[in-house]
Amino acid sequence: MITPDPHAANATISARRDLNDTVAIVHIRPDTGSVAPFVPGQFIQLGLPAGPDARRIAADGSVRTKLVKRSYSIAGAPHEREAYELCLAFVEQGQLTPKLRELTVGDRLWHDPIPKGIFTMERVPYGRDLVFVATGTGIAPFVSMLRAYGGNPLRFRHFVVVHGARKRSDLAYHEELTAAARADRRVSYIPILSREPAGSGWIGLRGRVQTALQPACFLSRTGFALNPSSASVFLCGNPAMIDEMRTELASSGFTTDTPKHPGNVHFERYW
Ligand SMILES: Cc1cc2nc3c(=O)[nH]c(=O)nc-3n(C[C@H](O)[C@H](O)[C@H](O)COP(=O)(O)OP(=O)(O)OC[C@H]3O[C@@H](n4cnc5c(N)ncnc54)[C@H](O)[C@@H]3O)c2cc1C
Ligand SMILES: NC(=O)c1ccc[n+]([C@@H]2O[C@H](COP(=O)([O-])OP(=O)(O)OC[C@H]3O[C@@H](n4cnc5c(N)ncnc54)[C@H](OP(=O)(O)O)[C@@H]3O)[C@@H](O)[C@H]2O)c1
Repeated sequence: MITPDPHAANATISARRDLNDTVAIVHIRPDTGSVAPFVPGQFIQLGLPAGPDARRIAADGSVRTKLVKRSYSIAGAPHEREAYELCLAFVEQGQLTPKLRELTVGDRLWHDPIPKGIFTMERVPYGRDLVFVATGTGIAPFVSMLRAYGGNPLRFRHFVVVHGARKRSDLAYHEELTAAARADRRVSYIPILSREPAGSGWIGLRGRVQTALQPACFLSRTGFALNPSSASVFLCGNPAMIDEMRTELASSGFTTDTPKHPGNVHFERYW
């Protein structure tokens, strides 16, 4: 019997909003008509044919397409059922993202129908100070978490988002996060830019996320001090940032969360 191609396109781009040349917010609608259940912080995989010879035909006539697959954190909340919302950076020399960049609304692609990942708040007790540190598109899982849990008065005591990016236009979800911080005094949003031109009108912090985490800066922006007994920290994005932040946090008494040993530092490396 001929088996169907497990890598045939099974989803459609249903929306796309480019923030600049390298960052876009994209909606992926599964052919099933709704997204699968997922926990905020999880990711899906996207795939496109690896090249002109990607379609392999076996002796029995069945087709199996070779894909380039990559993982993407879901920015949408689980109640947003129609499509997965993702925040994508287009990497110039990358294998997949230059192909994704060419796709427009209505174009087809493959997605893994089962979201995966353990970078979630499931193991974090209620009532803590939650501190989310992102670089670039690493903001995506935190947007999902805020959309899902932001309205719950018991889930956290504080919800702090520190977002490091190169330029103002790379700050995906800037308006949404600014509005969330205005609406709820438990929420703080601290964007910080590393390469925004001088004189551009940017009045926020400049530098890397580590600057925002310095005790005096953190206290002045959030109104509380970062303390391992009451805080859980989530790190997402550039792996060098994650390594540096983990070292810094360890020196202040924070410990990494692992499946066997609960801790208060959680991280997701994007590469
Ligand atoms: C669990 C998980 C979740 C992820 N979620 C996202 C997401 O929500 N959005 C997203 O844009 N990427 C995300 N990534 C990264 C993504 O999977 C790909 O690595 C990225 O899209 C590059 O793929 P590529 O084939 O074009 O580049 P590749 O050929 O794989 O080249 C990879 C190189 O691109 C650079 N790079 C990779 N990802 C990024 C990035 N996000 N920003 C800047 N530079 C990068 C690094 O220098 C890396 O060495 C995630 C990765 C993991 C493991
Ligand atoms: N955004 C752009 O303007 C632009 C332009 C051309 C190409 N691209 C390409 O687009 C892709 C996405 O780039 P991106 O800017 O989203 O991701 P990125 O390179 O990870 O940078 C995001 C932010 O993380 C910071 N960072 C890097 N290393 C760090 C560390 N060790 N600790 C703390 N912070 C650190 C960067 O600061 P620094 O600036 O100090 O490194 C920047 O503020 C890349 O492949 C890039 O080559 C982007």
